[in-house]
Amino acid sequence: MKPVKVGICGLGTVGGGTFNVLKRNAEEIARRAGRGIEVAQIAARRPNPKCETGATPITADIFDVANNPEIDIVIELIGGYTQARELVLKAIENGKHVVTANKALIAVHGNEIFAKAREKGVMVAFEAAVAGGIPVIKAIREGLSANRINWLAGIINGTGNFILTEMREKGRAFEDVLKEAQALGYAEADPTFDVEGIDAAHKLTILASIAFGIPLQFDKAYTEGISKLTSADVNYAEALGYRIKHLGVARRTDSGFELRVHPTLIPADRLIANVNGVMNAVMVNGDAAGSTLYYGAGAGMEATASAVVADVVDVVRALTTDPENHVPHLAFQPHSLSDHPILPIEACESAYYLRIQAKDHPGVLAQVATILSERGINIESIMQKEVEEQDGLVPMILVTHRVVEARVNDAIAALEALEDVVGSVVRIRVEQLN
Ligand code: HSE
Repeated sequence: MKPVKVGICGLGTVGGGTFNVLKRNAEEIARRAGRGIEVAQIAARRPNPKCETGATPITADIFDVANNPEIDIVIELIGGYTQARELVLKAIENGKHVVTANKALIAVHGNEIFAKAREKGVMVAFEAAVAGGIPVIKAIREGLSANRINWLAGIINGTGNFILTEMREKGRAFEDVLKEAQALGYAEADPTFDVEGIDAAHKLTILASIAFGIPLQFDKAYTEGISKLTSADVNYAEALGYRIKHLGVARRTDSGFELRVHPTLIPADRLIANVNGVMNAVMVNGDAAGSTLYYGAGAGMEATASAVVADVVDVVRALTTDPENHVPHLAFQPHSLSDHPILPIEACESAYYLRIQAKDHPGVLAQVATILSERGINIESIMQKEVEEQDGLVPMILVTHRVVEARVNDAIAALEALEDVVGSVVRIRVEQLN
């Protein structure tokens, strides 16, 4: 049988890795796919020194690939929203299948892209968009298809996890670690996407859609980054038996779905609390399988290429099947997507870590306890540290039981209004994940 011809758009870290893996493992991949896979064209603005492309034709224009009649599958690895959307829609328009690693594209334009792909009877595969080399989309979409998924929680941004790990283990400064992550090639082109949680929210949006069968709704995800975390909170969390991780959480509730990305205290003995450095992990809780955990490299040249090439193999295997029988993009049949709403963060429920800086006066602790109890907030543990020399204030650290966020917002406003409380109350959500 003739080989399937693919075109790679973008020859950066992931594009170079994809070319290299396709070339190095060509024989093994052909044995799995049932046909050879040939890179017939590459679109790149500049060569990649880590990738020896030999005689493969190269163009500077990505649309040459989308319009090339020889090409069966377009691999979009240019990143970003606008041009990537145009490229993918053009490829689909031309009847080509698409494989992409672009989480921003899928999270924001996925509904439109999938509708167009269904109209044209082509596949759009995006395993590499979430957690790099971990086949978590396949695991949820296919491996867990018997389950009603209750919740999932993941460390899905390697850069953020690397920063938190280095801050905790080595006491390094935030900026310093970020620079190293950029040099290692993990950080996004715009690193605020990593540190402000946007990248994680893109990935969480995708995971939630395939877990619950809901349209992609990135605009409704609550997103909070790690840039305001202090080493004081990292250390207090440690003293309370927790680790702070930047977590994406999606949870099914009776009134809607929670979709939130924020720093989170997790009990230190949970496996996921011990996922360090640039590694990613996603925990999925289904009613039949219980909790399962997927761990591995969430970024990097060949780890991400592993997911891209696996998608190419899936597309090649499915080339002869009737489009109606392809695995649905969002796991559920398109006419069966749920319109159950995404909840605003105020309606989400969590436990909370609160740090209050108070003047060292009698009765302050009683006032704090009264404010919480009046709002039905149950305190799980409390720790009061000695007066800090530099400002004469007492740090008070509380962990609450689970409660709806709106009540905590109200309590924080009341606490900050107390004469003996100085500055803002630090609030970090807590998840037991059990
Ligand atoms: N910037 C991302 C991360 C790359 O750090 O996880 C992989 O999506």
